[in-house]
Amino acid sequence: MDAPKQGTGNALDLRETNGKEHSQSKLEVLRFMDDNPGKSLKQVSEAFGVNEKTIRAWKAHKSRGTYGTGFQAIHESQVKDSPKKKSSPRAWSEKRANDLDGKTWLKDSISIWSDIRKSKEESQLNHPAMFPAQLPKRLIEVFTNKSMKVILDPFLGSGATLIAAMEMNKEGVGFEISSEYVKISGERVKRQNLFSANIPPKIYHDDALNLLSYLPGESVDLCITSPPYWDILSEKRSADYKQTRDYDEQRNNLSAIKSYEEFLDQLAQIFQKVFIALKPRRYCCVNVMDLRKKDRFYPFHSDLAKKMQTIGFIFDDLIIWDRRQEYNNLRPLGYPFVFRINKIHEYILIFKKA
Ligand SMILES: C[S@@+](CC[C@H](N)C(=O)[O-])C[C@H]1O[C@@H](n2cnc3c(N)ncnc32)[C@H](O)[C@@H]1O
Repeated sequence: MDAPKQGTGNALDLRETNGKEHSQSKLEVLRFMDDNPGKSLKQVSEAFGVNEKTIRAWKAHKSRGTYGTGFQAIHESQVKDSPKKKSSPRAWSEKRANDLDGKTWLKDSISIWSDIRKSKEESQLNHPAMFPAQLPKRLIEVFTNKSMKVILDPFLGSGATLIAAMEMNKEGVGFEISSEYVKISGERVKRQNLFSANIPPKIYHDDALNLLSYLPGESVDLCITSPPYWDILSEKRSADYKQTRDYDEQRNNLSAIKSYEEFLDQLAQIFQKVFIALKPRRYCCVNVMDLRKKDRFYPFHSDLAKKMQTIGFIFDDLIIWDRRQEYNNLRPLGYPFVFRINKIHEYILIFKKA
């Protein structure tokens, strides 16, 4: 497929071409000045944290009919057509999807993420299905702005989401049913705390089904999670012969459910609570992979997406998480009788509450 054309009115028009500054801030500042002609350069400079000399240069570019050298030229008429802001700069920044510059926005918008890596410390953690903190960190960067604070993970595991939330100065809240993983994530959070003065996260040792006993409705700004992969971790791993491990066999542990349909139903019940806890227009990002048990393939990502839409979530998009660099022991599955697919990717399903 051809790359998207850089036409008018396309988000790509806003990207920088010389790696200096982000044209989005430029547009915001200039729009703000249009809307507030009484504000002095000093006031605008303080409100946006951009120095006066730069603002003066932007104004000069604007009066020449383009918004600056080094960026895709955006004609003034296009800016005039875009919705006008009548509010304060603070309200405007709160309306932003995130605080990324255009270059990072473009990079992160590419549908395959191949650069997420476990740290040394993470490789040593004893959790069979963890994601690196780099993954929730990127999702926080992409799906929250500074004013969005509360990050929820209903299936906390080793605590990666809370570590990312701390690094991003957010308030992490996690639920985990296994005492072993509550301990692991608690210790991780403590270690992280030693190195940062961030907001301490909350870890609840409970079934995520009870999350509304701890969180009010419409209080969460972003949910990032990876649910159990059904009971698949207790199966023999034929693709890479990695050790098979099981989560705590406890009541309410979703990975102990034997029927796939029942597993999906119970998972949906938890996501229904997440839906209630989420603020409107906020996202819920769910990391999953498709599953196989012997001859049967379970398209977990699409089955879960259907359930989530029944709950009321909008299925907004998905990202492929390419993990091929972690699989160094692949074998020709099924050879020579049945051609089987070696899965080296997972999904980040992106749901939104209307
Ligand atoms: C795929 S793991 C999460 C891994 C996590 N993202 C990490 O990076 O470590 C799923 C976790 O859900 C937990 N779990 C299973 N059923 C649960 C339930 N009903 N409530 C809360 N946690 C549950 C399991 O113990 C497991 O640690």
